[in-house]
Amino acid sequence: MSLLDIEDVSVDYRIGSGSLRAVDHVSLRVEQGEALGIVGESGCGKTSLGLAVPMLLPANASISSGSISLGGRELVGMSERELNQLRWTEVAFVFQGAMNALNPVQRVDRQILEAITAHDSHADREVAGARVLELLELVGIAAARAKSYPHEFSGGMRQRAMIAMALACRPSLLIADEPTTALDVISQAQILALLDSLRRSEGLSLMMISHDLSAIKRVCDRIVVMYAGVVVESGTTEEVLGRRGRPAAAQHPYTKALIAAHPDLGGARSLAQGLSGHPPDLSVPITGCRFADRCDSAMEICREQAPASLSVSPGHVAACHLARRLVP
Ligand SMILES: Nc1ncnc2c1ncn2[C@@H]1O[C@H](COP(=O)(O)OP(=O)(O)OP(=O)(O)O)[C@@H](O)[C@H]1O
Ligand SMILES: [Mg+2]
Repeated sequence: MSLLDIEDVSVDYRIGSGSLRAVDHVSLRVEQGEALGIVGESGCGKTSLGLAVPMLLPANASISSGSISLGGRELVGMSERELNQLRWTEVAFVFQGAMNALNPVQRVDRQILEAITAHDSHADREVAGARVLELLELVGIAAARAKSYPHEFSGGMRQRAMIAMALACRPSLLIADEPTTALDVISQAQILALLDSLRRSEGLSLMMISHDLSAIKRVCDRIVVMYAGVVVESGTTEEVLGRRGRPAAAQHPYTKALIAAHPDLGGARSLAQGLSGHPPDLSVPITGCRFADRCDSAMEICREQAPASLSVSPGHVAACHLARRLVP
């Protein structure tokens, strides 16, 4: 049984008198101890999908189809009380831009302490205090810095503190939404190395949301590529993005365009150079392939019929009319 099993999930937002489908019948799994990366350009539904797991979507959102099971327990339809018991203890979330959301007038150790006591009101203060220092050490912040205010930390340290807070109640799954965006390259590399080492030392499973393919390649075992609310390709990072001399075997033209836009992955163009136009408007029904208008290889069928997911090799799936099974 997978740790996280998302099956056919759709997320709708009410906007004015209409609605917008940000996530459209998405299925994915995260196995115990695995790191899964979700990639795609801005607005493709990554955050909406991530927030759906701990049911932290905004008030105008609803999950209109599917099921989300965590450790064998169904989360869709679960009471707020039950969800509160699972949040942070089973699944923790590092929010997009969270490092700027630390309380500016409270010392960092105190904020982490409150994260512990909020979930365990009977926690012994001394034990909880020791746990705070242990957590900070785990993310590479020396005990001597524990009593700092957030503004005394660099961006990288604030992000480490947020990760420490997310780990306060020993969750089995950490969902990190753009954990390295807005950091300088050195801090980015350090946060990625931290997430990678936490997986190993804490047995943590990871769902890492990022628009940065090289970050996903650095940390994740598998990758899910989203475009306009749907999964267009998924597979091992090794197969999809290539590794150790093995060329990328991405099948979907959108994944190929993302790879071509990443200098670290051998690409040279920017995404804007490689892809003209914009993703489709999600508030109106879409016929055919969502990527067709931007795809150089689009055929007539692409505008008429949404492509089914094809298993191109074991564990590698692409939703494109042009996708073909890989010959081993
Ligand atoms: N609270 C909201 N109300 C209405 N629409 C929303 C809301 N939040 C997100 N959306 C819309 O849902 C779609 C998916 O947004 P989402 O934030 O999930 O994308 P994302 O992939 O995380 O993008 P980014 O890379 O910019 O963070 C977008 O069209 C967005 O405008
Ligand atoms: Mg987002």
